[in-house]
Amino acid sequence: MDIGTTNSAVSLAYLCPGNRPQGKMVAHWPGQAHWNGAAKVPTVVLYRKGRAKAYGMEAEREIEEQEKNVAYWLKLHLHPGSMVKLSNAEAFEIPPLPVGVTIERVYADTMRYLMDNTQHFFEMTTPGGAEIWARLRDTIVIVLATPNGWDIREQAVLAKAAVKASLVTEENAGQLLQFVTESEASVHYALANQTGDWLRNNVVFGIIDCGGSTVDTTIYRCVSTNPLSLKEACPSECVQAGGIFVNRHVRKLLEKKLQGSSFSNPEILGAMTSAFETDVKPMFDGTMEEYSLRFGSLRDNDSTVGIYKGRITLTDEELRPVFDLVTNQIIASCFTPLIKQRTKYVILVGGFAESPYVRSVLYKELDKHNIEIITVGDYAKKAAGEGAIIGHIKQFVVARAAKATFGGCVRERYDEKLHLDRSQAVKRYPDGQQRVDDAFHLWIKKGTVLQGTFGHKLSYHLAWDATTTSRKELASKLTTVEIEVFAWEGDDAPIWCKDEQGGALKGMRLICTLSANLSALARGLQIKNGPQGTKFYRVDYNVSVYFGGTQLRAKLQWKEKGSLCESMVKVMPYIS
Ligand SMILES: Nc1ncnc2c1ncn2[C@@H]1O[C@H](COP(=O)(O)OP(=O)(O)OP(=O)(O)O)[C@@H](O)[C@H]1O
Ligand SMILES: [Mg+2]
Repeated sequence: MDIGTTNSAVSLAYLCPGNRPQGKMVAHWPGQAHWNGAAKVPTVVLYRKGRAKAYGMEAEREIEEQEKNVAYWLKLHLHPGSMVKLSNAEAFEIPPLPVGVTIERVYADTMRYLMDNTQHFFEMTTPGGAEIWARLRDTIVIVLATPNGWDIREQAVLAKAAVKASLVTEENAGQLLQFVTESEASVHYALANQTGDWLRNNVVFGIIDCGGSTVDTTIYRCVSTNPLSLKEACPSECVQAGGIFVNRHVRKLLEKKLQGSSFSNPEILGAMTSAFETDVKPMFDGTMEEYSLRFGSLRDNDSTVGIYKGRITLTDEELRPVFDLVTNQIIASCFTPLIKQRTKYVILVGGFAESPYVRSVLYKELDKHNIEIITVGDYAKKAAGEGAIIGHIKQFVVARAAKATFGGCVRERYDEKLHLDRSQAVKRYPDGQQRVDDAFHLWIKKGTVLQGTFGHKLSYHLAWDATTTSRKELASKLTTVEIEVFAWEGDDAPIWCKDEQGGALKGMRLICTLSANLSALARGLQIKNGPQGTKFYRVDYNVSVYFGGTQLRAKLQWKEKGSLCESMVKVMPYIS
């Protein structure tokens, strides 16, 4: 499932013995012409009195008439602050949701709608489809495609919505609900649909997905072609510079142009922006002198603002800067890594990449650096949806690059060289060691290329004074420990996670808390000798963190009578 800012799409694969697994796009959505290959459906929900009333194309028609009741551009509500900063975008106004409707609700309603139509499509196109669906419904794996810039906070919202929409249950979500980045999904799609022999060992290529709100760039190195195996060469980029920003700027341009005239009202501006979206945006290539937008009737005339018979004229001089605002941001985001990694080829996907102007600008820029564009046919499709299925079937990306520096907030042994500024906060522990809280313990540095599911083992221990604490008391103290996991976007890792008041340091983002139940460790308690004849209890344990794909998993390990024991650690995403 690819729930895009403007369009959504679903691809499905029915895996049955004896058949070659194959993805199929859901190509029939209510209110859209049958069987025209329309694999995309607008991501729009119309609400009435807090209840979803219409979806897709049917809901989209209502945006101009009753904007307040329509939920659209949902994704903007979830984009993390770190992404906005990256794009240097001016404060961008997010269309509010209808009163009384939460973002989780809209996502849940959208998912239910997509799933219902997927079921309908499957039953119509598969012999015995209804029976098969009913039999396998509770085993369906759902893969959601999300932007490169999202992490587990955003995924957690989608996971909750998926449970609400009955796509999965709380119990089986861990197994049946999976995530893939849109870029990774697109690469699967592109490679399955491209022709030519450009893909050889050690070739570095990029994929740029120009969507409605984000443009995602990922760079891969081909490790082997048969079987196909790819490595992410560096952390992926994600910038909020998709196609909707052009519309937003055009609307502003029209607002300014029509100020003071009788055409300056939100409804007419809305109609003009829609006309721009359907008639002018797809053909603007920067070669014509003017473009005309049809928005009204033959009686609409005002020569002072260039309106004649229900049409308003916009010149190339007016439109070009509007497109350039966005293309400049795309170039600023993707070119540095493309050049640094000596990329040879670039694959363009996403609706906004179909714009002839965007294409020509990117083509010119890429050509300067001898980077060739590989064209993938069949643009009517949504690459991420179909790619997610292909990727799920083939699983050929073997390594991914860490998007940020990750680490835990820990109590560390006092080191004068590092911790002098907090020497007053140092405490001495029963084992005689001095320690200080809130230090940042680096686990994975940004840009590290992680192989498959990369495990990181962290050794921790707890100690108590054995003269003042009984073994029995200790058992009751060994309950749950929590480790807060932080992400740091900067380059050099800082010493601290939190400031002296306990607030997260600027630039530190709490992403989740690992929570482990230590009660089983009570059996392994050992008495050790401390300084000056003191005795203390000590337990040692490891927390292993797995950064696999786009999900984070963790488990707890400890030794008991020489053998290794394990239990799961709960990962609780932080939702602000
Ligand atoms: N032929 C075209 N010419 C110009 N722009 C186009 C064309 N087709 C689609 N677009 C633009 O592409 C955008 C939608 O692309 P796409 O469907 O890939 O985005 P999305 O998946 O909804 O968004 P995102 O991936 O950012 O969540 C819209 O802004 C639309 O105006
Ligand atoms: Mg998209």
